[in-house]
Amino acid sequence: MRTVKIKLGENSYSIYIGKGILEEFNSLFSSKEARKALIVTNNTVWNIYGKRVIDSIKDGFTKVETLILPDGERYKTLRSVEKGYKVLVENKFTRSDCIINLGGGVICDTGGFISATYMRGIDFYQIPTTLLAQVDASIGGKVAVNLPQGKNLVGAFYQPKGVLIDVNFLETLPKRELSSGWSEIIKAGIIGGEDFFSILERGKYPLITAIEKAIKLKAKIVKMDEKDKAIRKILNLGHTFAHAIESATNYRRYLHGEAVAIGIMYAIKLGEAIGVTDPSLKDRVKALLERFNLPTELKKLNPQDLIPYFYVDKKATTSSLSFIIPLKIGDVREFRNITPEILGGILK
Ligand SMILES: NC(=O)c1ccc[n+]([C@@H]2O[C@H](COP(=O)([O-])OP(=O)(O)OC[C@H]3O[C@@H](n4cnc5c(N)ncnc54)[C@H](O)[C@@H]3O)[C@@H](O)[C@H]2O)c1
Ligand SMILES: [Zn+2]
Repeated sequence: MRTVKIKLGENSYSIYIGKGILEEFNSLFSSKEARKALIVTNNTVWNIYGKRVIDSIKDGFTKVETLILPDGERYKTLRSVEKGYKVLVENKFTRSDCIINLGGGVICDTGGFISATYMRGIDFYQIPTTLLAQVDASIGGKVAVNLPQGKNLVGAFYQPKGVLIDVNFLETLPKRELSSGWSEIIKAGIIGGEDFFSILERGKYPLITAIEKAIKLKAKIVKMDEKDKAIRKILNLGHTFAHAIESATNYRRYLHGEAVAIGIMYAIKLGEAIGVTDPSLKDRVKALLERFNLPTELKKLNPQDLIPYFYVDKKATTSSLSFIIPLKIGDVREFRNITPEILGGILK
């Protein structure tokens, strides 16, 4: 088992990564006090893993309740959050009890938001079951749900008490979802530097090592900038484009990681257009994304149609747009002076 520590003073916690470590949950996250747990999950994950998870954790709690939401981003809503509050109140959960999120990013975000807000905050643990959630969504303490007006519009910075990453969960994950997670690992590789990126290019490493490296990078950055004010923004590489692509296609055509893959390629094009990006970067990144069956260009969508969506980005002002651009492997920065003309040029 490998351990990565997120060091944030009194909000510090450990991330445990391994194969077949679900059964260790109670020994890793034991508590002196007797407490109840609410498992937040969805029907897909619950049908496959519910019994195994209950058997693994039940001895550590006086009672285990469940909130089984329908599967899908569509249910990352305040309505699901309210359902959670209802179960918590009905079962008299107090701040000394806890929540355990079991699922992909949708569940980690929804259950995390319930945890951040119920009684002004209750302990929670993440058991991410998709690759994307294991390397990204379950760590760093950003929790949120969507509003009809847009994605992740209500949320909080609220750290879990611990994260358990068991790669065995990935055995049942659909291939496309697995690739989607690889996209965030490749993003981390571009930010992390040659060591990390070239390991990915060589392709000879255990999955656990790639997951650990991506998490270590995120841990390092979150430690420097927990609240996303400065350097943490570079983790959004590819995401301004990705969010526009996801919105323009109503979240139906691309998985998040697929949109990020296309977004990374656009960020590189933008960097080339303003003359800051190393000319060799594009081909290297494209080749790696393609190796993981990720898309690298938009299909059946006019890139110009993305433009209105950039103006609702959290970082935007009306006269200039902010983008995260890679200069080379290991050097990724925010550029705030992207004009609509430059952007329009690369989306032609
Ligand atoms: N908070 C953050 O820092 C952060 C970071 C990245 C993404 N996110 C959020 O994460 C969400 C996307 O997460 P995701 O890609 O994990 O999608 P997801 O949660 O929708 O999961 C993808 C699909 O896989 C299924 N699934 C999950 N685990 C499985 C398993 N082990 N076997 C079989 N099927 C399984 C799910 O039921 C779902 O159908 C988005 O809402 C995004 O905003 C948050
Ligand atoms: Zn992402």
